[in-house]
Amino acid sequence: MSTKREKIAVYPGSFDPITNGHLDLLDRGLKIFDRIIIALAENPAKVPFFTTEERLDLISTSLATHPELSRIQIETFNGLLVDYVERTGAVAILRGLRAVSDFEYEFQMALMNRKLSRRPETLYLMTGANWIYISSRIIKEVVSKGGCVNGLVPDVVEAKLKDKFQSFRQRQVAMPQLGPDDREDSAA
Ligand code: PNS
Repeated sequence: MSTKREKIAVYPGSFDPITNGHLDLLDRGLKIFDRIIIALAENPAKVPFFTTEERLDLISTSLATHPELSRIQIETFNGLLVDYVERTGAVAILRGLRAVSDFEYEFQMALMNRKLSRRPETLYLMTGANWIYISSRIIKEVVSKGGCVNGLVPDVVEAKLKDKFQSFRQRQVAMPQLGPDDREDSAA
């Protein structure tokens, strides 16, 4: 009798911070894969708004009561994504596509990853209609100007964003960069 091999996908990103779009994509990925590894890129080329520890904490708190938590792993990685994927034994890289504007960057990344390694397939899911217009960067921008992002990010993320921007204002220090206008930021 053959034993079925576990199908693992790596869901990589900056998650700066995690949004409900990311969570939606994760849920849909869990319908396809046995296990999903959320892989937080510690990308030194991109100065994140939240530290690695803060981003990890926001992800794990957001998922704390997830019914499929036993099938979700949260890790960080450095270096090439394909090398990390190889180490995990995953068969796929999971990404979301919001709009045509995402396509070029994603196409370039998928083809480069494929050139580097033939093993993992990159699987794209179209972002759910509710999340098509959100990105981590636009969420940060709205909160930085006092806008409401309720329902677009987990409550813990909304609270942490408000705290962080308030602390910048109180200390009267310049607001940090919110990150490039993504597609170096996949909302889902
Ligand atoms: O959420 P993001 O910022 O769109 O995620 C981009 C990420 C982290 C998936 C991408 O930058 C990446 O894979 N970085 C690791 C370095 C790498 O492997 N680069 C070559 C592939 S383009």
